[in-house]
Amino acid sequence: MNIALLFGGKSPEHEISVRSARNIAAAINKEKHKLTLIGVDPNGGWRLLGKEHLADTFVTTQAPRLALVPGRKQDQIIRLDTMEEIAQPDVIFAIIHGPYGEDGTVQGLLRVLDLPFVGPDVLSSAVAMDKDFAKRLLREAGLMVAKGLVFHAHEKEAIDYMAVVNQLGTPLFIKPANMGSSVGVHKARNQVEFSAAIKDAFHYDRKIIIEEMITGRELECAVLGNEKPEVTHIGEIATAEEYSFDAKYVSETEAQLSIPADVTDAELFQLQMVAKQAYQVLGCEGMARVDMFMTKEGDVYVNEINTLPGFTNISMYPQLWEHAGTSYTALIDELIRLAIERHKAQAALSMKR
Ligand SMILES: Nc1ncnc2c1ncn2[C@@H]1O[C@H](COP(=O)(O)OP(=O)(O)O)[C@@H](O)[C@H]1O
Ligand SMILES: [Mg+2]
Repeated sequence: MNIALLFGGKSPEHEISVRSARNIAAAINKEKHKLTLIGVDPNGGWRLLGKEHLADTFVTTQAPRLALVPGRKQDQIIRLDTMEEIAQPDVIFAIIHGPYGEDGTVQGLLRVLDLPFVGPDVLSSAVAMDKDFAKRLLREAGLMVAKGLVFHAHEKEAIDYMAVVNQLGTPLFIKPANMGSSVGVHKARNQVEFSAAIKDAFHYDRKIIIEEMITGRELECAVLGNEKPEVTHIGEIATAEEYSFDAKYVSETEAQLSIPADVTDAELFQLQMVAKQAYQVLGCEGMARVDMFMTKEGDVYVNEINTLPGFTNISMYPQLWEHAGTSYTALIDELIRLAIERHKAQAALSMKR
């Protein structure tokens, strides 16, 4: 098959995406698949790249621009310089993290182009990206989530520290509703930190959430599948030293992972159940990584669901599958298969009455 890797993007997670793409390109089964490289430059332009560009940190703005042509069964992507079609992709492996990538926008474009793509569909991607919407659905399904408050940009001036503390206690976590990789996420222990955190979070989104702090272990589970998702063992992010957390989570590759996490059988079962349920509540397909907290008392909170988790060979998601006996190469194959399966099911639906 011809697999188009779509990576880079406009979000602050551009570099992580390029790294994920580099690793996927190296690991993909070359006897079964050919690769086409489509980079989204930091301005959002789609570019046809060569293998040599995978060594770059950012997607170059020097490569040929691509144009998208909806309404065709094939040749939906053409080069703007020559007006020629690129090799027809059988599946798009879109691995753009964060806004304009993981949030349903790219998934919507690919739906409109009628191209199969890896990972959750438009709605699940959008809802999982929005921490406010995701938490409402998870809570409604009976899953535990951190207590929190939501504020929009126009309410900024009215956010009152003492009123928030009365409801949620201290310390507080402040984050943009839609972002990833800890960008704009801050812990605040006093009014000064709180004000600075709010200001920063609003740099990244017009909606922010303020949460109570959950004290517990950070545990993650990898989920894979369409109708019948499968879960892996649990991975743990080494608890950050007090306040080194900003540095620690900027890059997933710098975080300390332990796989498998040291949990009891009963805890493992509970964590896997929660992960699977969270995946299904948000209607995920393909893959997602479910991030949880487990308190000393054994309560499991869902923190967030990442529909395009870090995907380098040393990232949590592929490593959890590796531990389960599914190699990185086999995982890529399975994601491609799931993308085609979903696309076929959608294509079978009637659009006529
Ligand atoms: N309510 C909370 N209680 C405790 N720690 C939190 C809370 N919210 C976030 N964190 C910490 O901040 C990190 C980043 O926050 P997260 O919500 O996962 O945002 P991102 O989408 O940027 O990964 C988490 O991995 C965790 O260490
Ligand atoms: Mg996170």
